[in-house]
Amino acid sequence: MSNVVVKKRSSALGAEVLGVDLREELSEETVARIREAWLENLVLVFRDQHLTHEQHIAFSRRLGPLETHESIPKFCHPDHPEILLVTNYENTGKKLVVGRQWHSDLSTTRRPAKGSLLRCEEAPPAGGDTMFCNMYRAWEALSPAYRAMLQDRWALHDMTHARETRTRRSPEELVDIRRRNPPVYQPVARVHDETGRTALYVAEMTTVAFEGMSEAESRPILDYLFDRSVVYENVYRHRWRPGDLVMWDNRCAMHIALADYGDDERRVMYRTTLQGEPSGRLPEAETSAAAE
Ligand code: SIN
Repeated sequence: MSNVVVKKRSSALGAEVLGVDLREELSEETVARIREAWLENLVLVFRDQHLTHEQHIAFSRRLGPLETHESIPKFCHPDHPEILLVTNYENTGKKLVVGRQWHSDLSTTRRPAKGSLLRCEEAPPAGGDTMFCNMYRAWEALSPAYRAMLQDRWALHDMTHARETRTRRSPEELVDIRRRNPPVYQPVARVHDETGRTALYVAEMTTVAFEGMSEAESRPILDYLFDRSVVYENVYRHRWRPGDLVMWDNRCAMHIALADYGDDERRVMYRTTLQGEPSGRLPEAETSAAAE
């Protein structure tokens, strides 16, 4: 018998799961209950878990195959390529900045992440929260006419569009990042492959323009969608405690890491990333070049 208890922590999304110890080998029934609660609540919080890297990876694998992060060596754990280092400092002591605009993980790739599982080892005394937004609700709140306009549209997601990247990297570096990570088109109205529900899939950090429209034409529409998506009623805000593990569904939720803590305060987190289904495609020019 599974002892899992799920308590909603916000009306839009986000629930806490009680009665599980993720360090243990969970029964199929327990994993099925967690998966069901995840699809329903988009974000699940497990408190007081204090997992090792191995336990974090083992639990994540129960939910599906994992990405490895060797392509970003600065953030990849040297012994566990499944673990992404989400810390605010480098071993050199240099400050790092990650995820500080609304986004959905790996939306700039053809196969964006299905889900992410972030575990907290050290949190600043105050600040450094992560906020999550329900993108089903963002889609459903639009009028039928506005939805019809966006229904079959695609939008370009570009890794170099992130504010921190654009402002801190040289033009040469941006060209190199774009060459290694070519921007991809993603559907604006994305149908979730498990629930069948439609979610709005545009993100402040990565979405540049709609296919067939210039950036200037797209900007007012995108700005409206970004602002409208993250209204208070669509959001859950997570205050981290060491030992927390939070998992979210990137297909229908966006998130942002808040930068409201001191430069000398440590925030040490580790993330695993669940592989998703392909949803993106390269722009036509790149597709034909790749075929040659
Ligand atoms: C992420 O964007 O995956 C990390 C979020 C966070 O650091 O809170």
